[in-house]
Amino acid sequence: MDQKMKELRHLLSLKDLSGKEILSLVDLALKIKKSQSKYAKALAGKNLLMFFEKPSLRTRLSFEVAMLQLGGHAIYYDLQGSPLGKGKESVEDTARVVARYMDAIMARLYSHEDLKKIAANSRVPVINGLTDFSHPCQILSDLLTIREKFGKLKGLKLSYLGDANNNVTHSFMFALPKIGMHLSICCPPGKEFSPNPSVVEAAKKYAKDNGTKFIISSNPEEVRDSDVLYTDSWMSYHIPKDQEARRISALQKYQVNSRLMHLAGKKAVFMHCLPAERGKEVTADVIDGAQSIVLDEAENRLHMQKAILLWLMK
Ligand code: CP
Ligand code: NVA
Repeated sequence: MDQKMKELRHLLSLKDLSGKEILSLVDLALKIKKSQSKYAKALAGKNLLMFFEKPSLRTRLSFEVAMLQLGGHAIYYDLQGSPLGKGKESVEDTARVVARYMDAIMARLYSHEDLKKIAANSRVPVINGLTDFSHPCQILSDLLTIREKFGKLKGLKLSYLGDANNNVTHSFMFALPKIGMHLSICCPPGKEFSPNPSVVEAAKKYAKDNGTKFIISSNPEEVRDSDVLYTDSWMSYHIPKDQEARRISALQKYQVNSRLMHLAGKKAVFMHCLPAERGKEVTADVIDGAQSIVLDEAENRLHMQKAILLWLMK
C-alpha cells in the first residue's frame, strides 16, 4: 500500500469517526446549507462514481445533486450491468481501475465486507451509501436535522423502535453515545431483530466513556419522554419478500402509532429514513402528522452529502 493510500480517509462506518469529527460534519453541513452559493465551485472538475447494487431514491439523487451544486460531476453505475455484477471481475480489480478515473467512490452494496475491500484497494475516498450493516450518511444527516429542530444534540434522547438488526440502528449506536445523546432501542427479544453484538459492545463502551444512557429493551414504552422517535422499514432492501408476513407479526408491537407518540410527549419529533410503509412500521397519522419531520430529514441528505464530499475530497 502506498503512503497516499495509508493517509486516505473513507466513510465506511461511524465507528471510525470520533465524536468531534461527527459534530464537525454537522457544523459544516449547517454552514453549507446557509450559504450554498459560496460552495458552487468547491469541487470543480471532480468526479464521483456511484455504485448501486440496491435501489435508491434519496441517496442517489442527493449525491448527484450535491456534486452538481459543488461544481463537480457524478456518474450512476448499476452494478448489475458491470463485469463485477456479472461475476467476471473481482471487487479488488474494480476498485483499482475506478480509482484511476474518479476522485471519489460512493457505493451502496449488500456486503459491508465488499465495501471494505473496495476501500482497501482504492486510491480515492470511498463512501458507504448503505450496506446491510450500516448507513452512516443517513445518520449524519439525521443529526443535522435534530440539531436544527432542537438547537442542540447533547442530552437529547432518541428512541428507535422495530427491527434493530439493521444498518440504520447500527449507525445510531456508533454515533449517538459518542456525542452525548441518549439512545433507547426497543425491539423484539432474540437474535433476529436485535443489533449485532459487536455493535452493542461498542455502544456500551462509548456510553460509559461519555456518561450517556444506552438501553435495549423489548418494552416499547421505553419511548417515554423521548425527544426523537425513530423507526425504519421492517423489510429492508436485502430482506426476501417471503419473510414479510412473519416479520409483520413479530414487529407489530413496535409500530410507531399515536399512543407511542403520546407517551414520548408533545415536544417529540417523529423521524424515518424512508422509504416508509404506512400501516406497518408507522401509522399514517404519525408520519403525516404535525410531529413528523421526515421531509426535512430527507432534504438534509443533500446538505450533509455536500459536507461529507468536501471533508473527503477537498
Ligand atoms: N434513506 C435512504 O437511504 O433512502 P434511499 O434508499 O431512497 O436512498
Ligand atoms: N434499513 C433500510 C434503510 C433504507 C434507507 C434498508 O436497508 O433498506
